[in-house]
Amino acid sequence: MAHASGHLAFHDLLPPQQSMLDEVWAGLSKPQKELSPKLFYDARGCELFEAICGLPEYYPTRTEVSIMRAHAPAMARLLGRDCALIEIGCGNSDKTRALLAELEPDVFVAVDIAREQLEASCRVIAKAFPQMQVVALRADFAHAFELPRADLGSGRRVLYFPGSTIGNFTPAEAREFLARWAPLLGAGGAALIGVDLKKDPAILNAAYNDAQGVTAEFNLNVLRHINAELGANFDLAGFRHDARYVEATGRIEMHLVSLKAQRVALAGRMLEFRPGETIHTENSCKYEIAEFQALGKAAGFEARACWTDDDRLFSVHYFSLP
Ligand code: AVI
Repeated sequence: MAHASGHLAFHDLLPPQQSMLDEVWAGLSKPQKELSPKLFYDARGCELFEAICGLPEYYPTRTEVSIMRAHAPAMARLLGRDCALIEIGCGNSDKTRALLAELEPDVFVAVDIAREQLEASCRVIAKAFPQMQVVALRADFAHAFELPRADLGSGRRVLYFPGSTIGNFTPAEAREFLARWAPLLGAGGAALIGVDLKKDPAILNAAYNDAQGVTAEFNLNVLRHINAELGANFDLAGFRHDARYVEATGRIEMHLVSLKAQRVALAGRMLEFRPGETIHTENSCKYEIAEFQALGKAAGFEARACWTDDDRLFSVHYFSLP
């Protein structure tokens, strides 16, 4: 489905609901039950994530924004104005704003799964940058999809993946993701990627276990989303939030822990939970700078620059394609 108005175009490339049910059922049928983190982002989940971004414990957003504000001019010089900037994942628009204001690309493509947030943020951006072609692309970026080539123009293609959303992939998935993008960007293309860094586990654990309980609500909201979308009957009071840094894999793992033996109906079938059994809902992988540069190289990119804050909490990487 596609529609356009003025210099704003919208394409919906999301597969039908059946594939959501198949994916949810497959994940919950594994010995370690799991759900894709993309399921967090219904309208309520987007609101909760916005709230997380402003929490005192959740340093990534404000740190990345400060890096973008400080270095947007240098980034814009490296990327070059005559480009199509393709942003993956609806982030906090402050980061994108700082870059767009400096870069003023010919084309801005925003890719996200959450329709309302995507449309709303693209409308705001189209209004703020009337000379720019804005393309909203609703898609599941964890899987391959076609770029609307007609909208992209002939300039350099630059992938912008902020927010350390790449950390929600395992390193192998992140490498595959970048390797899939390399031919879409083409020779001379580039990528600008926000990546959270390894640090004192106490800082990491606090960021995913905030005192106000917003992250817990965000985690539990995935069950509310599945209830609403697929007619399941998860009892949210029967689960609790668990998030911890796992040193061996360098990642925060989020789980929902079943508080009792329980049965849940999903699309005419039954799911059984033992007391203490978990659903793994998210990985949030943290990297050393060199580690992430090596990952980019393994996917075919050249590591060209990296910016961090003074406390080395967060990094923004610039890669180019030969
Ligand atoms: C979107 N993503 C990068 C966030 C993260 O930090 O992994 C999602 C999140 N999960 C819990 N808090 C924030």
